[in-house]
Amino acid sequence: MPAWGVLFLLWAVVGATKDCPASCNCHALETMGLWVNCSGRRLTALPILPARTRHLLLANNSLHVVPPGTFDHLPQLQMLDVTQNPWHCDCSITYLRLWLEDRMPEALHHVVCASPALVAARPLNQLTGSELGNCGWQLQGSWASLRLWWDVTLVAVVTLGLALLVSLLCTLARLQHEPGTVTSRP
Ligand SMILES: *[C@@H]1O[C@H](CO)[C@@H](O)[C@H](O)[C@H]1NC(C)=O
Repeated sequence: MPAWGVLFLLWAVVGATKDCPASCNCHALETMGLWVNCSGRRLTALPILPARTRHLLLANNSLHVVPPGTFDHLPQLQMLDVTQNPWHCDCSITYLRLWLEDRMPEALHHVVCASPALVAARPLNQLTGSELGNCGWQLQGSWASLRLWWDVTLVAVVTLGLALLVSLLCTLARLQHEPGTVTSRP
């Protein structure tokens, strides 16, 4: 192997291990990015992941939640294994569910909820919106007031339009009854 090949390998290995979380194994993928294996480590929370993570294995841990936005700083992330974890499937699981739905929808069948009781042992792909709980509570406040203002504006515009129409019709009717008022003006 030529010297630059050795250097490249060294660089790849150092790069791969530099940001690797203590509870995971990492190695550089040929296709760029990192393979990060954190399976079977009894993790109860996600470690801080390297920005170049491409394949992320989190199977067989004790993870309950993925905080919304967790994978947003991992632009290269393509493959995620989150099976065999006691997922708590309330509204907060929506981020993970949407992430998987967008990138690897077939994986949803294998991600199984552990709690709450209503959805225990059910895979993520089977859950309906109402089973995930009320996700809209945060939006309701701002959207409700926006809706109210929208309704008020709509009523005001319609009322104004009607008033204009009525006055126009009145004017026309008056002109018809007194035709002289228009024509007699020089
Ligand atoms: C899951 O991880 C534990 C260690 O936390 C290990 O003993 C066990 O063999 C693993 N199970 C599977 C199915 O990989």
